[in-house]
Formats: sequence, structure tokens, C-alpha cells
Amino acid sequence: MDTGTTKSTVLIVDDSPEQLEAIAHLLYRNGLKTQVARDGKRALELLSKSTPDLILLDVYMPEMDGFEVCRRIKADEETSGIPIIFFTASNDETSIQKAFGLGAQDYVTKPFKSVELLARVNAHIKIRRQAKVLEDSYRELDSFCYTVAHDLKAPLLSIQKLTEYLTEDYYDRLDKDGRELIGHIQDKSSDVVTLVSRLLEFARFSNRSLKFETVDLSALFREVFGELTLAAPNRKIRFSVGEIPRVQADRLMMRELIANILSNAIKYTRKKEKAVIEVGASCDADTVTVSTRDNGAGFDMRYSDKLFKVFQRLHSQSEFEGTGAGLAIVQRIVQRHGGVVWITGEVGKGATICFRLPLRRESSSMYREKLSEQSSRVFS
Ligand SMILES: Nc1ncnc2c1ncn2[C@@H]1O[C@H](COP(=O)(O)OP(=O)(O)OP(=O)(O)O)[C@@H](O)[C@H]1O
Ligand SMILES: [Mg+2]
Repeated sequence: MDTGTTKSTVLIVDDSPEQLEAIAHLLYRNGLKTQVARDGKRALELLSKSTPDLILLDVYMPEMDGFEVCRRIKADEETSGIPIIFFTASNDETSIQKAFGLGAQDYVTKPFKSVELLARVNAHIKIRRQAKVLEDSYRELDSFCYTVAHDLKAPLLSIQKLTEYLTEDYYDRLDKDGRELIGHIQDKSSDVVTLVSRLLEFARFSNRSLKFETVDLSALFREVFGELTLAAPNRKIRFSVGEIPRVQADRLMMRELIANILSNAIKYTRKKEKAVIEVGASCDADTVTVSTRDNGAGFDMRYSDKLFKVFQRLHSQSEFEGTGAGLAIVQRIVQRHGGVVWITGEVGKGATICFRLPLRRESSSMYREKLSEQSSRVFS
């Protein structure tokens, strides 16, 4: 594992040519490669072509200030992981706080001390490299998960088919016990096929590259609810959706997220005579929080931390069917959009699931659609 800092690239963004030159020279003398940009626009252009290991960013620049540049970098999945060190004035507490709030990793005050700047640069490059190794391991694990599930599915489907033939062709020759046994085999194999299919879905949403566009979540909630309840025409559900601001998100993933949330709300209100499902939203300057509340079976909050793990369930199969993959998929999708998700509930009273997403200001063209080498290899 190479955790050294040689050959690492640092992008320096500053409107002062003297400052740019001084920093570039310092870093170069210490074995680092540098890229320079005199304004935010140029910095974003450079970032769309290559990914440096670290960004040094001045706060005050004409046209687009450092905060806006930082906001855009952190909003783009391709660049959000690059550590950013801000240059601020020594007494500028407000800027420092704002920079951290936007996801910057550190700051250096101007006029900077060479030793301090180098120490911080090297430390953050090292952390970034270690984080990359971890990310790669996670990706490998996801691919492994996908491959295992994928390779298991075909033989499992064959077993299912073979038992079907057995039942059709040998039914008369089997006694009661034999027929019962075959029935069990069929049930169990169909359970495993469902599990494996959900695992594949989970892996797919973990690896699929994001394609951002403007998504009207209110409309999507209504659409998905309509589709899901087609299969349950006898259910009477009072369903309402409040105003939700449009978000920049991957539509397909949002659909899957909503489908999993609503299918839970529909399923766990099944035993209520008057089922109620309410979707609402609240926002602040940078985020939107969407909540889905139902008055269904609820769950014991003591075990709530388990629910976002794959195959973890709090209800028995006989009470409510399911595999336990839905919320794990939900969490992956929300995390991949830079958000957070949580769920609360009370036994017999219902559950509320909330997800918070960053409100991205950029146009969708900011986001690249490039499939990572990894996912195209795995899913081709
Ligand atoms: N709206 C809800 N009301 C009550 N319990 C819930 C609700 N949503 C989730 N849960 C609990 O969280 C567990 C995990 O949910 P998740 O959606 O991952 O799995 P599932 O619905 O059991 O199966 P799947 O979604 O894979 O068909 C559920 O088994 C249930 O115990
Ligand atoms: Mg579910």
C-alpha cells in the first residue's frame, strides 16, 4: 500500500498569481505535482478532466468565491471525496465555520507558514489515500456479493424448475409425505430465489453510477403509490403527499427508494382497518427532509439500528412477508446522494421514515455519467 505523498497532485485555486506561484513552488520542491487555477470556473474545468489528491482553495475570489467552488465540488459524486484545505484570514472565524459546514477538511491562515502548510497537505493526502484503499475494499466486497448472488441464481432457478417437473410428472406416484416434501422444497427454493434477487438489487444500486437530473419527488411518490396499490385493489388507504421541492437526483434510484419506503408503509398497515400514509417535507437552505409516516404495525425502537442492515427484520415471515433488503437499499441510495436516512416507530402505532438530501444547485450537466471501470466490468 502506497501511502507516501510523492507524485500526488494538488490543485491550487487562488486569484493572486504571486500566491499561486509561491505555493506551487513550495509543493513542487517537496515532491508534489501541482495544477493551478486563478478562478473557480477554471478550477471546475480542471476537475472535470482530472482528479487531484487535494485542493487548496482561497476563500475570496472574484465572480465565484471559494465557498461556492467548495459547494460544487462536494455536490459532485466524482469530486466530493477530494479533501479541501481553505486559505482564510487569521481572524476570519465566520469563514472557517462556513468552510467546515460545506465539507472542507481543514484551513490554513494567510500569510501561511511553509512548514504548517506542508504538514497539513501531507497529512490530508495520506488520509485520502487510506480512505481510497478502504473504498476499493468496499467496492470489491460489493462486487463479490454481486458475483456470488448472480452465480447462485441460475442453479437455484434450475432446482425450482426440476421440482416443478417432478411434481407434474410424478405426482401420482408420490405418497402424501412425498408430495408434502416436494411442496417444502418448492417453498424454500422460491424463498432463496427471492433473497438472491434482492441481494442482486442491493449490489446493483450500490455500484450503478449516478445520473443526475431534476426530479419531482411529490409526483414520483404519487406515481409509485399508484403502481404498488394496483396489486392490492381491496386496500383502503388514505394517502397524502405534501409539497416537496424538486431535487437533483438519479431518477431511477429515487423511484427504487420510494418504492421500498412505500411498499413497507403499505405492507405494515395491512392489518389496520383505516390505513393512513402521509408524505411530507421540510427544507432549510441546503437540504430537504422527506418523511413518510404510517399508522401500521410499527416496531420496537430498541432494535432500530439493525433495520438498515441487509436481511435484518423485526417481523416474522408469517406475520409480514419480506427479505429484509428494502431498507438496506434505501440507505445505500440515500448515502450515494450524500444524504442520511433514519426511521422511528412504536409498536402498534406506526413508523416514520425520513431521508435528508442536499439541495444541489448545479445543472445536471455538472454531473458526469461516466461508468466507473469497476461497475462496467462487473455488470457488463
Ligand atoms: N413502515 C414500517 N412499519 C413497521 N416496520 C417497518 C417499517 N418499515 C420497515 N420496518 C421494519 O424494518 C424491517 C426491514 O425493512 P425492509 O424493508 O428492509 O425489509 P422487509 O420489508 O422485511 O423486506 P423487503 O423490503 O426486502 O421485502 C422490516 O422487516 C420491519 O421489521
Ligand atoms: Mg421492505
